[in-house]
Amino acid sequence: MPDSKEIRVFAPATVANVACGYDVLGFAINAPGDEVVVRHSDKPGLHITKITGDNGKLPKNPAQNTAGVAALDLLKHLGMMDRGIEMEIHKKMPFGSGLGSSAASAVAGAYAVNKLIGSPLSRKQLLPFTMAGEAFADGAWHADNVGPCLMGGIVFIRSNAELDIAQLPAPKNLWAAVVHPDIEILTKVAREILPKEIPLENATQQIGNLGGLICGLIQEDYGMISRSIHDVIAEPRRQKLIPDFYKAKRAALSAGALGFSISGAGPSVFALCEGEESARKVADAVSKVFSAVPLTNQAYVSPINTTGVHVIEESTKS
Ligand code: HSE
Repeated sequence: MPDSKEIRVFAPATVANVACGYDVLGFAINAPGDEVVVRHSDKPGLHITKITGDNGKLPKNPAQNTAGVAALDLLKHLGMMDRGIEMEIHKKMPFGSGLGSSAASAVAGAYAVNKLIGSPLSRKQLLPFTMAGEAFADGAWHADNVGPCLMGGIVFIRSNAELDIAQLPAPKNLWAAVVHPDIEILTKVAREILPKEIPLENATQQIGNLGGLICGLIQEDYGMISRSIHDVIAEPRRQKLIPDFYKAKRAALSAGALGFSISGAGPSVFALCEGEESARKVADAVSKVFSAVPLTNQAYVSPINTTGVHVIEESTKS
């Protein structure tokens, strides 16, 4: 008889790039997020038994499913491909949203399976397996969504190739306003429109801003954070995919945002703010701009989520 334990995990949405850190910086927010449930089974191998919230888009074949690929990669590494495991995936955020939807599924899949089998690997050791799931989804190798989703907080990636990452401190009063307009942007498309080469002047500006943002976070210097949230590489090219992007940016900055840019590959946008009240005001102002387009949209206000993926329910069925 297999152990009858059942585990439900929650993996949060993430804001990748954070304006000046294309592919190398990301942070987690409290909601939305995906949920994955796993339990032992008599039937050998990993089986996805249920998927909700995907509008029928996701395959149940684990080898073709982001959460499944991450879990399979982990089980393969551990030499446990025959282990009987059932998985349910509950998608709670849209695809192509810029909220790290595929990363959340990949992280939830690997983390849940690791927990179920007794946590042989640490959180950080799960990173390569979550990356396999994420890369399967968007065809690119960047840890700026899976990193913070897995570890929580603000995560800096020194090297995506080596998966060399570091957690940065999040100032206590740093809040994010994230607004998702209801359009879909495929990460692949948003990456293809970026230039292969950038002028030295832009590279210098971007490096200065990234360094400034990191210093601002470490020193809790909101002025430095504010001066650093600028993207001269991806935002100027990607903004055209988001209706009224610059209107939304102006609205966010006039409402008091420290800075504003595109969340990941978009269409979601984000602002960093000092305090909850400011973040709520900014989220409202941005939401109004998209509503006027008209575009339905969802706004999320959150401090930096320092927990990352975690178990929300664990039970042993009799
Ligand atoms: N850094 C990635 C990009 C994030 O901007 O393409 C995608 O979610």
